[in-house]
Amino acid sequence: MTERISIAIDGPAAAGKSTIAKIVAESLGYAYIDTGAMYRALTWKAQQQQIDATDGERLAALLRGMTIELKPSPSGQLVYVDGEDVTDVIRTPKVTNAVSQVATHEPVRERMVELQRSIGEAGAVVMDGRDIGTAVLPFAQLKIFMTASVEERAERRYAENKSRGIETPLEELKEEIRKRDRLDTEREHSPLVQAEDALLIDTTGRTIEEVAHEIEQLAKERIAK
Ligand code: CDP
Ligand code: CDP
Repeated sequence: MTERISIAIDGPAAAGKSTIAKIVAESLGYAYIDTGAMYRALTWKAQQQQIDATDGERLAALLRGMTIELKPSPSGQLVYVDGEDVTDVIRTPKVTNAVSQVATHEPVRERMVELQRSIGEAGAVVMDGRDIGTAVLPFAQLKIFMTASVEERAERRYAENKSRGIETPLEELKEEIRKRDRLDTEREHSPLVQAEDALLIDTTGRTIEEVAHEIEQLAKERIAK
């Protein structure tokens, strides 16, 4: 019986990955790792040092010299870069608009995969991102590819922003999501693609609870094997 499985959740922006991954991890007593936060942390640091998002070699060197820590907390995962709390600042539009460009570079991805694998390989982990099932944890016992329509994903982001007091026009959010989807799926190195052995879950019109319950059931089946 496998008691400490690895769960990989991939998919495009605002499909519900992090919200659902967090719930599933909590219910199984597993660690939750948001790999997107690591790409965001690097993007933020590069902007601080005025390193261009197109300069893959300098970005990779920056990544090798910095520390990124992910710490669980009751209010969600906290992100630290070189000891500084960057949890909120990595979600700003300035970072969001540059992160997919930063994530295109092979040397950056190689190092990220190495870091993420070292966190995830012991199992008992729910990891979400774009290449977890294909590149980071190809041996994961449960792989989910989570999607939702662009319209619904933009509406979710709109509601999320509004609850934080940010009013971004819906059309602008749709455009940002489409642009990021394009960059993530069309990049040369480990693009966003459904792993052959991943289960597709379309969350359009479905509640967080419903989807979390479905994945918990799938995880329990794998654990019992
Ligand atoms: O939360 P949201 O869906 O907005 O994005 P995220 O998970 O924070 O990821 C931000 C960006 O990082 C993505 O759009 C990808 O370009 C990149 N990323 C990646 O390339 N590979 C991963 N495993 C995770 C994120
Ligand atoms: O991690 P990812 O970018 O895939 O999405 P998320 O940050 O987990 O979800 C984006 C927003 O959609 C959050 O505000 C969730 O509460 C919401 N959501 C939803 O309304 N219904 C779902 N089935 C999943 C997420």
